[in-house]
Amino acid sequence: MIVQLENEIQNQIAEQNQTAINEVLSGLLQRQKELPCKYFYDKRGAELFDEICELPEYYLTRTELEIMKKYAGEMADCIGPRAAVIEYGSGSAVKTQILLQALDKPSLYVPMDISAEYLEYSVRKLSRHFPHLQILPVQGDFTDYLNLAPYTRWASKKIIYFPGSTIGNFRPAAAKRLLRQMFTQCGPGGGVLIGVDLLKEKRILEAAYNDSRGVTAEFNLNLLQHLNDVYGSDFNSQAFRHRAVFNSRQSRVEMYLVSLYAQTVAIWDRLVFFKPNESILTECSYKYSITSFKRLAQQSGFTAQAVWADANHSFSIHFLNRP
Ligand code: TRP
Repeated sequence: MIVQLENEIQNQIAEQNQTAINEVLSGLLQRQKELPCKYFYDKRGAELFDEICELPEYYLTRTELEIMKKYAGEMADCIGPRAAVIEYGSGSAVKTQILLQALDKPSLYVPMDISAEYLEYSVRKLSRHFPHLQILPVQGDFTDYLNLAPYTRWASKKIIYFPGSTIGNFRPAAAKRLLRQMFTQCGPGGGVLIGVDLLKEKRILEAAYNDSRGVTAEFNLNLLQHLNDVYGSDFNSQAFRHRAVFNSRQSRVEMYLVSLYAQTVAIWDRLVFFKPNESILTECSYKYSITSFKRLAQQSGFTAQAVWADANHSFSIHFLNRP
């Protein structure tokens, strides 16, 4: 059963979109140029990301799925019956299906995603698998706080599901801010089930973000095409190359688009200049230890109640509880 968002909330989302262009421009005017990572996910980007998840080098999805399959029962015990599940960046919702299957009478599922294609696909799929579950799709940026209280009245508690180690794509201060937002959104007695990639050898980390088939490179470069489509900029994606490096000091993989030569790009009413080899930082993927992530969660007010990992300790899933 698919539930519709009320008009008022729809308007709230439209307003938030207007500030997005400013975000793009201010990023490109910094000394180290940057672009917001949410622009990765247009139709092509979503397809490429699904391909990344299947790559032999990209161990994250495979490992998280394995942990979900093995421990979904324990996760469901932590969550309890009649929970409302809110998912940040629901994507193709493969792991969600495992979670919903294991849960005892979930009362509502709220998938949130920036990509309309992803959302449409996952809602269609899940409403087929769970015909009695209420589904409230929200297209937008999950970092914009939405008050979902009117929809979750009947739920015993609110659980935010945030898999994929997407929390790693936020810098520590922003990650803490997002965890604080989840703390507010899930309310007293609520919780967060969150996937977090773990720190490991540089060689393995860099391969995961620079695969031999070049899918990640294509995914990164597609960001420029998407910006052209949305804002009418004139990036030439053939004039940039993909680069991924592990920065051990900051414990993060950094993804760049590197300008092959000197060039000027028009975006909105501005011109942006690039020197040869000048880079745009498009994404960071922070890697945590189990302890360093627990510390971050505790600093945001949560109790780190449970954690599951694979035998090699390459990936972890935490259950955080709001007392
Ligand atoms: N959350 C994913 C990660 O950090 C996102 C991701 C995977 C990604 N591969 C990427 C983002 C390549 C940009 C480029 O692993």
